[in-house]
Amino acid sequence: MVLEQLIQLRDVYKIYQMGEEAVHALDGVSFSISQGEFVAIVGSSGSGKSTAMNIIGCLDVPTSGTYHLGGTDVSTMDDDQQAEIRNKMLGFIFQQYNLIPKLTVQENVELPLLYGGISAEERHKRAVQSLERVGLADKRRNLPSQLSGGQQQRVSIARALAGEPSVILADEPTGALDSRTGREVLSFLQKLNAEGDTVVLITHDNSIAVKAKRIIRLQDGKIVYDGDARAPEAVVQPLESGEEAEA
Ligand SMILES: Nc1ncnc2c1ncn2[C@@H]1O[C@H](COP(=O)(O)OP(=O)(O)O)[C@@H](O)[C@H]1O
Ligand SMILES: [Mg+2]
Repeated sequence: MVLEQLIQLRDVYKIYQMGEEAVHALDGVSFSISQGEFVAIVGSSGSGKSTAMNIIGCLDVPTSGTYHLGGTDVSTMDDDQQAEIRNKMLGFIFQQYNLIPKLTVQENVELPLLYGGISAEERHKRAVQSLERVGLADKRRNLPSQLSGGQQQRVSIARALAGEPSVILADEPTGALDSRTGREVLSFLQKLNAEGDTVVLITHDNSIAVKAKRIIRLQDGKIVYDGDARAPEAVVQPLESGEEAEA
């Protein structure tokens, strides 16, 4: 059964008080994401992407409005409760792979499971499976430094998969890669989605966003497009800051 509204934001505001000024990083944002979707959240710098990512990733809570993940209200959780739901439901892929240089590929993939209190046997099994999924089972005993940038990013993807997350959250995952390797990582995310994983990709880059199935475009903390990634209006460049939209 497909879970509709795996992710649900309702009228979410995130407001930062900067002296006299209130910065509306998110300004009344509502959307839902169902199980099995591949969504890119796009927008230029300052549009609110990282703020949205932090809320979806249970790293921060809205100033007002609600966020439900898998039916659970996250918006009122304390830090410990957020950490718990994060471990249980989310797999993160970052621009920096955050691999530990002294640990082997296998140990890196197992590390979050160790923190999660999962048995050695189960850790081993899941790490091998997820390294197989990213095509790096033969590099298990290597150190990260012995791998290319693209391979290191795939190890970080395997690490995210080993936790068996409900949602894969990728924040500018190709930002540190050359364009060819970046395309590889993207087609990799497409493959995971084709195999049933729910993927939320955060990017400022339209050419990357169009690889998703759906685009949610932010501008000044508001949604200005939400729909098919292939529609022409999905990749309309937002106005430069300082320009005013026509009334
Ligand atoms: N901790 C913070 N304190 C004050 N303002 C912030 C903070 N985080 C983000 N902002 C502001 O909120 C807006 C959205 O930021 P952000 O979500 O980082 O955008 P993006 O990731 O799309 O570049 C920007 O105007 C930014 O300056
Ligand atoms: Mg950002």
